[in-house]
Amino acid sequence: MLSNHPLSDKSIFLERQLSPPFAMLTAADYPTAVWLSRAGVDLILVGDSLANVELGLASTTQVGMDIMLHHAAAVLRGAKDTPVIVDMPFDAYQPEGSDALLNARKFIDLGCAAVKVEWFSRCPQVVRLLCDGGIKVMGHVGLTPQTAQNFNVRGRTQQEAEGIVRQSLELEQSGCFAVVLECVPESLAQRITAVLRIPSIGIGAGRFCDGQVLVTNDMLGLNAGKLPRFVKPYAALGEATVAAVQAYTKDVHSAVFPGPEQTYR
Ligand code: KIV
Repeated sequence: MLSNHPLSDKSIFLERQLSPPFAMLTAADYPTAVWLSRAGVDLILVGDSLANVELGLASTTQVGMDIMLHHAAAVLRGAKDTPVIVDMPFDAYQPEGSDALLNARKFIDLGCAAVKVEWFSRCPQVVRLLCDGGIKVMGHVGLTPQTAQNFNVRGRTQQEAEGIVRQSLELEQSGCFAVVLECVPESLAQRITAVLRIPSIGIGAGRFCDGQVLVTNDMLGLNAGKLPRFVKPYAALGEATVAAVQAYTKDVHSAVFPGPEQTYR
């Protein structure tokens, strides 16, 4: 974050006023939401990346409304003082004939503060429909996994970069209150952040966005696979879990657990 960045008018109003720089993290279950909320993260996203990191599925398009509602409800029970934003699953708004407003309302009625939608050709119309219906909408451009053919950095060519700038502006004009920039060069994210009046929230978009988001499983070291370059590992909970489970298994095998302290009399 540059100290001379014009952040002053880039607040987010969700349940209360939040000022940049925003720290957003994903959650898909109750305990994660409790800990994130307790730690004071600004925003919690029930991202459809839960398809990959929680459910072991290949694609985010494999989760629908029922699964996202199930996870959103669990997160809302744990995230007492933190606004919760939820990803609209692909089949809830992108295919022709999907009832985007009805589906978005289901999340808001549950207690979510806003929904997030990924860019596709009719995205501005869908955003307008949702905003006219009183729903707060976060946009998402750059690498948009619901429709991505590959997971390469986006916006490296002039043409693609101009397209992402245009999409960001269209989302702003359509009523989005913020936009996620995923996997774009830092200079492009900086340019978009400068032209937008709404905040940008970067993931793999460098230092100059108005906020940052990471997938919690990635930054806590719970992902067994290879991490993208943009993830900073803040903990190694996967390895800590292995060590704890090995110790427990050894104790059980050697009759050390349970001991007298864990035994009722
Ligand atoms: O689903 C998700 O976790 C997301 C983040 C990567 C922004 O959309």
